[in-house]
Amino acid sequence: MSEHPATETSASQPAREIAVRASKVSMDFGNGVLAVDNASFELEKGRFLTILGPSGSGKTTLLRMIAGFQEQTSGEITIYGKPVHATPPHRRSIGMVFQKLALFPHMTAAENVAFPLRMRRFNPRSIPGRVEQFLELVKLQGYGNRRINELSGGQQQRVAIARALVFEPDLLLLDEPLAALDVKLREEMQLEFRRIQHELGVTTINVTHDQREALVVSDDVIVMDGGRIQQHARPVDLYREPANPFVAGFLGLSSSVEGTVTDGGELKAGDQLLKGAPVGDIPPGTPALAAIRAEQIRMGATQSALKACDVSLDGLVRDTIFEGERQMYVVEAKTLPGTVFHVYHHDPDSFDLFDVGASVAIGWNRRDMKIFRNSA
Ligand SMILES: Nc1ncnc2c1ncn2[C@@H]1O[C@H](COP(=O)(O)OP(=O)(O)OP(=O)(O)O)[C@@H](O)[C@H]1O
Ligand SMILES: [Mg+2]
Repeated sequence: MSEHPATETSASQPAREIAVRASKVSMDFGNGVLAVDNASFELEKGRFLTILGPSGSGKTTLLRMIAGFQEQTSGEITIYGKPVHATPPHRRSIGMVFQKLALFPHMTAAENVAFPLRMRRFNPRSIPGRVEQFLELVKLQGYGNRRINELSGGQQQRVAIARALVFEPDLLLLDEPLAALDVKLREEMQLEFRRIQHELGVTTINVTHDQREALVVSDDVIVMDGGRIQQHARPVDLYREPANPFVAGFLGLSSSVEGTVTDGGELKAGDQLLKGAPVGDIPPGTPALAAIRAEQIRMGATQSALKACDVSLDGLVRDTIFEGERQMYVVEAKTLPGTVFHVYHHDPDSFDLFDVGASVAIGWNRRDMKIFRNSA
């Protein structure tokens, strides 16, 4: 089910250097389910990979195995071609930032950033200049003498990032370092991560359950569920071409309809035929599930207002929710009682276009409704 985003290598392209390679990696804690189940992926040098998934999907376990904190029960992980455990922990060139920052609260910001340099026996004379350079990188110039408990949450986060990067690791591992921050600061820091990673070009693996963060910061994204890699793709491909219903449902807001596939590749739900785009080969008569995103559904007073859509249906507004930058409508299809569609409507001039109970029409383009084999 996983697909690797980087596809062709032609003779004219330089060979890709693989920083991290996981081959059929599993982790069995002995409690009946595999925390990580047969995970394989490659990460090219210099790229930013995010592992995205719900709580308990195995993200931290996978990251801890890459860091060498935990040994997999089967499979192999290599960093620049060497098995993780072939290098003793103190020789591994890995920077890490976790949700709990583990900064030294009684030390200053500068002392915290200097710590890994002293541990690695950098030339003492080179340390102050390097510390200053990395404090500048995270926009904390002038804060070096502050103690950690005299800094804000976001500033502490930056110290932790500087400390993880100051010795120029081959690999940066991040486990939800932004989870504790408020939304606005988190979004700011996501862009900061992106900027710093671009500036230094350090190969990075970031773990999060925040889909927006995954789309914003990453070159590549791995979606995990139940210990398994569900899809490995670039953000835009993940969003536009989800490989299965889990990925379609996990990113963005989707509505789904159950039915069977017809010989024309449409979904038959009750008496209604819905045009969509089958994902993979699905023989006629197979139980299927179609999914469409809220922003891909158009809405109008009648079907004649939706002539540009490949599909249109009559519906009834069941609920309407003001979300600030948009209005969300919940529309029940008249021909599919009990099936509701979530529709985003962006029109700054007319937010409350339709009231609850109003008759409306909804429509979409064929390619936007993905039809998946229904394995549930
Ligand atoms: N040391 C352990 N011993 C036994 N089971 C564990 C251990 N660590 C994790 N697990 C189990 O492995 C599964 C995956 O856990 P993991 O921490 O990797 O999930 P996660 O995706 O990081 O979740 P979250 O988003 O909540 O941090 C869970 O079912 C968890 O209970
Ligand atoms: Mg975790």
